[in-house]
Amino acid sequence: MGERLNISQTGEKIPHRPVLFDEVMELFAPLGEEGGGKGKVFIDCTLGFGGHTAGILEKYPGVQVVGIDRDREALEFSRKRLAKWGERVEFYHGRASELLPEIAENLRKRGLKIGGVLADIGVSSYQLDQEKRGFNFESPQLDMRMDQTQPLSAREVVNHYPRQKLEEIFRNYGEIRNPRRIVEAIVKARPIVSNRELAQVLGKVGIKNKKGLAPIFQAIRIEVNDELGELEQLLDKIGEIGEPGMVAGIITFHSLEDRAVKRRFKEWAKRCICPPDAPRCSCGGDNQLGIVLTKKPIVAGEREIRENPRARSAKLRGFLFTRPVEGGAV
Ligand SMILES: C[S@@+](CC[C@H](N)C(=O)[O-])C[C@H]1O[C@@H](n2cnc3c(N)ncnc32)[C@H](O)[C@@H]1O
Repeated sequence: MGERLNISQTGEKIPHRPVLFDEVMELFAPLGEEGGGKGKVFIDCTLGFGGHTAGILEKYPGVQVVGIDRDREALEFSRKRLAKWGERVEFYHGRASELLPEIAENLRKRGLKIGGVLADIGVSSYQLDQEKRGFNFESPQLDMRMDQTQPLSAREVVNHYPRQKLEEIFRNYGEIRNPRRIVEAIVKARPIVSNRELAQVLGKVGIKNKKGLAPIFQAIRIEVNDELGELEQLLDKIGEIGEPGMVAGIITFHSLEDRAVKRRFKEWAKRCICPPDAPRCSCGGDNQLGIVLTKKPIVAGEREIRENPRARSAKLRGFLFTRPVEGGAV
């Protein structure tokens, strides 16, 4: 597919390469059933630079797309990149978990069926590479906000969070076993004004290379963007809008995120939702929302990892809804 190249058809350089592209196309193959997807909508909760969405638009001429991103820059790029598909694409700025219920309701009022929901969680290569966005080690900013309109940035986390909270973040999100000396070094060096300076402070406690710095920066980024909280809320909302035939695909880059998706899909697939210690079933045993499509997460092959090292930690899981959630939109 031409759109996988790093140059768009309008000649612009595409700053992000979609991960697991072929695997995502395959997961959403049910979109093409029944007349090339006519009357169906694909919701891309993390539109980014439109790589996955461009693939869907090209492959299924009847499918409409709703693209959501909390990053205005990414949204504006995609608006231009996807312009050739005209009114087949609608764009929304904001958190997917907040926007999804209203979008779903509007689509249904228009008589459209939601055939697929994709969330490719995490940062884009563009966000990581752009120094002004304050995500990378060299950046003169301490920022890391995906949505530049939100008040909390890395500056606040690094300079104002109490020691204990910083330790928790590094332990839980960075999987750093003993973060105390890191936190002490940060607190002692306050105020820290740039990522470059933060990297220097960490260098003084022996954390010098990319491998050591990455989990610390990642932990701060997860906190700034409430990435785990947002994922849980997004899963709540996807569960609420699930309708028969709808496929949900979630790509994660962190083990905690993958665990959350795995757990949720397993819950959705359960017939009985009684507590495990209940003497007998009292829930009716009829609570299954659908089936897990991926017993194990789908991961990138060697070739993709060679061409795009970011794909190394990507995990894709899929779920097929077979019945609507009670009380949810129908
Ligand atoms: C990994 S990139 C997606 C790349 C996209 N699939 C592509 O092919 O270009 C993740 C994007 O999702 C956005 N994002 C992450 N979490 C989000 C959320 N909860 N709601 C809306 N956008 C989100 C980020 O701002 C970023 O632009």
